[in-house]
Amino acid sequence: MSHETQILTPDAAGYAEAARLLTTGALVAMPTETVYGLAGDARNDHAVAAIFAAKGRPQFNPLIVHVADLAMAEQIAVFSDTARALAQAFWPGPLTLVLPLRAGCGISDLVTAGNDSVAIRMPAHPVARGLLSAFGGPLAAPSANPSGKISPTTARHVLDGLGGKIAAVLDGGVCEVGVESTILSLDPPRLLRPGGLPLEALEAALGQPIASGGDAAKPNAPGQLVSHYAPGAQVRINADTPSPGEVFVGFGPGVKSDLSLSQSGDLVEAAAALFAILRAADTLAQARGVDCIAFAPIPETGLGRAINDRLRRASAPRD
Ligand code: TXA
Ligand code: MG
Repeated sequence: MSHETQILTPDAAGYAEAARLLTTGALVAMPTETVYGLAGDARNDHAVAAIFAAKGRPQFNPLIVHVADLAMAEQIAVFSDTARALAQAFWPGPLTLVLPLRAGCGISDLVTAGNDSVAIRMPAHPVARGLLSAFGGPLAAPSANPSGKISPTTARHVLDGLGGKIAAVLDGGVCEVGVESTILSLDPPRLLRPGGLPLEALEAALGQPIASGGDAAKPNAPGQLVSHYAPGAQVRINADTPSPGEVFVGFGPGVKSDLSLSQSGDLVEAAAALFAILRAADTLAQARGVDCIAFAPIPETGLGRAINDRLRRASAPRD
């Protein structure tokens, strides 16, 4: 597929056109509070296959289903009391729950990769919510970037990566949270991907510590792909000072650097800026003709966990 990608404004006409496109099986990128998602009808095998094709995903790893409300979610997944309590506490918002798939719910097997579980979330962004209610059905939506590349937090980022490959992008400005949702499976609770909802908040709600890491035997969050979120330049993490020639991204006050994730050392601000800073650092490296970006250490608490996870993947060896 190669055609112009429409840029839609989030007004009545824009939502109607986006919903119409989705109904035909076409793909529409939508803003969520975390990152832009590449949305397709989660019940349409053809649309879901087109998501993998547009992203150039090497494998069919399972996708997150986005829903408008809890009623839609309960048609797709089986909620335990714990799952419902977490949904009520944190939805809409940056939490994805991996739950048993409800038999016969109509979700494409490509979305679940044939698993008997489904990853599901209710996004908080008003434009995602507007689109979900205009469309009236579940939307499969991975981040709207080519596979392995930096996730998009603006409509411009989406067009830079996928322009000409998707029908439209709804322009909802800059994503507030800036890193993908936290993914949790239950019984027992297990953190599959650190993300926009801090682990501490989930542990407080459940009243118990949560183990990290997926089951190594199963394909899980994009974590399991070694290199991910990769800019053009190499990335070095936990750098106290830059080596000669490196672009240096600082964190916190009093750090002399080319760019900063947050001058005040605020992890929420740093998460929101992360992917745009990775892009900016890459551009700066290119302009200077150097090939390495160094990141100052980020504390491993709150959103720092998600930031460090993404930076580790950005710095992972590439093929
Ligand atoms: O913030 C987000 O979560 C963004 C925005 C667009 O909502 N979406 C996103 O989706 O990051 P995606 O598809 O890039 O990441 C979903 C991850 C996949 O890597 C997949 O392995 C994991 O969730 N996942 C999906 N279904 C699963 C399942 N049944 N069991 C375990 N992991 C699952
Ligand atoms: Mg992604």
